Amino acid sequence: MNLNLHIWRQQNASAPGGFVTYEVDGITPDMSFLEMLDVLNEELLAKREAPVAFEHDCREGICGSCGFLINGLAHGGRRGTTTCQLSMRFFKDGDTLTLEPWRARAFPVIRDLVVDRSAFDRIIQAGGFISAPTGSAPDANAVLVPKDAADTAFEAAACIGCGACVAACPNTSAMLFTSAKLIHLNVLPQGQPQRDQRTVNMVAAMKEELFGSCTNHGECEAVCPKEIPLEFIGRMNHDLMRAVFRRHREPLSSTNGHGRRA
Ligand code: SF4
Ligand code: FES
Repeated sequence: MNLNLHIWRQQNASAPGGFVTYEVDGITPDMSFLEMLDVLNEELLAKREAPVAFEHDCREGICGSCGFLINGLAHGGRRGTTTCQLSMRFFKDGDTLTLEPWRARAFPVIRDLVVDRSAFDRIIQAGGFISAPTGSAPDANAVLVPKDAADTAFEAAACIGCGACVAACPNTSAMLFTSAKLIHLNVLPQGQPQRDQRTVNMVAAMKEELFGSCTNHGECEAVCPKEIPLEFIGRMNHDLMRAVFRRHREPLSSTNGHGRRA
């Protein structure tokens, strides 16, 4: 199979970028999309040209590092599929493909198809962590977890932080990602003590990064390779209102000077 590739080449975030056209041949249907790029890069290296930079690690849909736009669609647009899981059998001989990095102010280009997604890390960090010694792991059944909570937490935990939701959103909103990371902990009994604080802090961190706001387009859900549901954004908004309301009520429940709650 022969392909024409228009690939975005850019040295770094401050350098101007542009599309460069390459032809690659000898591609077989059983190759993955990233293996097709490996073939191109071997050819470029043989000609002493700089290979195309693209991020990857697990190559099996787990780590979330491999995303970019293929013909304008995040991860190539196949439902529930990361770029590394995309097979070349979905393409035809002679196809022309345009490859470009996520386009979002919050994700500056590091090089070619690689962007800096550390804004996501800062949102997760804002959720807090515990570094105090807590002893050994508790017994598995010490805290009972309702089945529906376990299922929801598991569904949310599937988010791999790839950034496709941001790239597909016309507003480059990070609400689907943030809601998945938040709901993952907020539905569990173990997540209740810091629920309000975590919600306010993560939403505030999301606002401080250069992401836009959600206006219910739903593109995020459509391209998410882990099929994180839009409903999680509603749940996050619910938790935010709950947290802000309870914060507001805080002074009302302080002691009244007689050692009693007001
Ligand atoms: S919500 Fe989906 S598209 Fe967004 S970062 Fe998580 S896995 Fe990727
Ligand atoms: S390389 Fe890990 S999800 Fe694609």
